[in-house]
Amino acid sequence: MIDRYGRYVNGLRISVTENCNFNCFYCHREGCPESSREMSPDEIGSIVKIASELGVGKIKITGGEPLLRDDIVDIVAASAKPGIREISMTTNGALLSERAHELAEAGLDRVNISLDTLDAEKFAKITQNGSLEEVLDGINAALEARLVPIKLNMVLLKGINEDEIDRMIDFAGERGMILQLIELVDLNGEDFQEHHLALEEIERKLAAKAIAVRTRRLMQSRKRYLLPNGEVEVVRPMHNTRFCAHCHRLRLTPDGYLKPCLMRNDNLVDILSWVRAGDVDGAKKSFVEAVGRREPYFKRTEKCPHAL
Ligand code: 5AD
Ligand code: SF4
Repeated sequence: MIDRYGRYVNGLRISVTENCNFNCFYCHREGCPESSREMSPDEIGSIVKIASELGVGKIKITGGEPLLRDDIVDIVAASAKPGIREISMTTNGALLSERAHELAEAGLDRVNISLDTLDAEKFAKITQNGSLEEVLDGINAALEARLVPIKLNMVLLKGINEDEIDRMIDFAGERGMILQLIELVDLNGEDFQEHHLALEEIERKLAAKAIAVRTRRLMQSRKRYLLPNGEVEVVRPMHNTRFCAHCHRLRLTPDGYLKPCLMRNDNLVDILSWVRAGDVDGAKKSFVEAVGRREPYFKRTEKCPHAL
């Protein structure tokens, strides 16, 4: 399925809960409004089936923290539909050590684990009470369960973790993981000004050290740098027209609305009501409607910051 801007949709990012056991001060909560409805594993499975019939091949399960759902293993199993080539999960890792093996058995292919720092004190400060040790245990369990390639998500925060990039590259590289350096996205105002770090300079340094550089066209034009000590991917969504131009995913909120863009809540499409009514055609139409409503948030017409 192709949207009005020529971008086809090959990925569905399913948020299965708003709840989280951490409270990261910068968290964008996947841009989802609060609500009371929650999708069951079967309902998620029905939506994945429709998505796969319309050409979606990749499912990402996110939250909040997806592992807070007791039925998360059933959700993964329900997502393993014909045509789905990859099921991945983004998790904070704290509950992963208990669950990694059963998740892999249910069909989970790989995980992204959020890890902004290797310093226990900083970690507790950022997450407002998370335990670094539990996350490190979760990483080890994911490696043992072969939920690979594992990506570590490191959101860069000015004045907090910008000095840890090299250490994080080593940490990830030594364990065969990929480090994703993520630019802070502005969804909650004041902290953004204080902690936003532009990644251009960091990217230039990586480029200078790299043995090889790959541009991942199907992944929002992200660059992946192969370094002597590890692999680094850079995610720069803010005011980046190339990022939006190469976006191939649709989102599903925990209460069953298709969400055409992370940054907006004014164009959601209810799909769960159709699924609950047993109306597959209606559900399919709502999927087509959501794809039709997709538009790049940062468009080419936006002034280029380098021209200022
Ligand atoms: N900016 C960038 N990344 C964010 N994440 C959460 N909030 C933000 C934000 N404001 C990332 C987390 C996690 C993933 C679910 O989203 O690091 O890895
Ligand atoms: Fe948000 Fe992830 Fe932190 Fe939870 S762990 S508060 S979902 S960024």
